[in-house]
Amino acid sequence: MASLTIRKLDETVKAYLRLRSAGNGRSVEEEVRVILGELIQGRPELPGGASPPPSTEAPGQTLRSVSPSSERNVTLIIGGGIAAFKSLELIRRLKERHIDVRCVLTKAAQQFVTPLSASALSHERVYTDLFDPGSEFDAGHIRLARECDLIVVAPATADLMAKMAHGHADDLASAILLAANRPILVAPAMNPLMWNNAATRRNVLQLRRDGIHMIGPNVGEMAETGEAGVGRMSEAIEIAAAAADILRPPRPRPLTGKRVLITAGPTHEAIDPVRYIANRSSGKQGFAIAAAAQAAGADVTLVSGPVELRDPAGVTVIRVESARDMLHRVEAALPADVAIFAAAVADWRVANEGEQKLKKTSAGMPPLQLVENPDILATISKLKDKRPPLVIGFAAETEHLIDNAKAKIARKGCDWIVANDVSPALGVMGGDRNTVHLLTRDGDINIDNIKVDSWPVMTKEQVAAELVAKIAKTVEKSS
Ligand SMILES: Cc1cc2nc3c(=O)[nH]c(=O)nc-3n(C[C@H](O)[C@H](O)[C@H](O)COP(=O)(O)O)c2cc1C
Repeated sequence: MASLTIRKLDETVKAYLRLRSAGNGRSVEEEVRVILGELIQGRPELPGGASPPPSTEAPGQTLRSVSPSSERNVTLIIGGGIAAFKSLELIRRLKERHIDVRCVLTKAAQQFVTPLSASALSHERVYTDLFDPGSEFDAGHIRLARECDLIVVAPATADLMAKMAHGHADDLASAILLAANRPILVAPAMNPLMWNNAATRRNVLQLRRDGIHMIGPNVGEMAETGEAGVGRMSEAIEIAAAAADILRPPRPRPLTGKRVLITAGPTHEAIDPVRYIANRSSGKQGFAIAAAAQAAGADVTLVSGPVELRDPAGVTVIRVESARDMLHRVEAALPADVAIFAAAVADWRVANEGEQKLKKTSAGMPPLQLVENPDILATISKLKDKRPPLVIGFAAETEHLIDNAKAKIARKGCDWIVANDVSPALGVMGGDRNTVHLLTRDGDINIDNIKVDSWPVMTKEQVAAELVAKIAKTVEKSS
């Protein structure tokens, strides 16, 4: 067998070996042994079908397709910021995840990192020039924009983001970004004053509107002595994880084509123009269910009482105040395939709501007379024509949880109840975790035939995901 002399290897390969061996604390020879071992391990088909060795093409050679060793390819655009050195680590992090990387360096980026380092780490030729005859004979910049699954810009300088927002294409990086028909992830990195500048704020907003994914920037110390704030590029490991997330095959969307109606939050029942009766519901569980149903492909309408939560993306959110408002908006949102009533609707409202602010008088406290509110769960469960095929209520109890929840299914006529203990000691109301029991009946309204499934303590997002998975199974079975 011929012996291998490292000295005789191509410069790019040697540079790669030096970097990799230094990073792993091995000698170059040891590193070569490890690489060969990794290559051979678990690949009995190697003799006939080995993958090609890393590229040793010199700059200026023809742009070729990325190596077929991985199914996912990223074009990494490195901008001219001080954080460019972190992008070398990003190449390694992406490759650890079996993502092939092809690098493009802006002119300014080359002041911070060399094309040679990027090439050695990526095992690919690095691109720097829009007017490169070697790659532009077949519109290389278009191919760099399209022959990948994702474009990552890290660091995304203020300048690059401005060019993207305004559609410039006067260098290789901006031309690729303008010609792209692939998702783009940007990792901004700049001085906090640049980040907070009105022009950058406008550009960031525009990029978000254009559907550009963004990670960071993080808060922290700047390279400039004594400066700190928002502007540090996210760590390589975070950017690689975000890229992998975007590249992950789309999750199944079992509720596609289904309409899901959800209520959430408390209701506010006015006493007078400035005072109201309320409860401690935060709306977090209902909002989490709305987000999970939307992620499962459903067309979701969320009718919410007053809460401090942001609208979940892709969900139609209708904000209401009182139980009566909520009922009207729920009725107007029908028909639906599934209705989930997670709101903590006030049972009573004030009968004699004051038109003016009630005043203290010597006659003592004003008498507050309460009347019952409409029962939204029972009203919808008992509809004749527009009853959703699956109606789910929530039972928040502080005692006799299961017995009360069973009685509630029978009394209201819904199909399932999600019962949870909201005793203050458990911190469920307003908290991030929930311990629920799912009560289900199969048509039969007989209390003895209601099934109880007790779930472990979970985050409200996990409860939402479990519930939506169960709904999807049930909807699938019945359609
Ligand atoms: C030492 C130094 C550090 C810089 N760091 C950043 C930075 O972190 N973020 C940024 O947006 N611009 C930074 N700049 C300015 C950019 O290099 C400059 O705007 C350049 O035109 C960006 O080019 P590009 O967007 O094509 O890479 C820095 C400039 C210098 C001289």
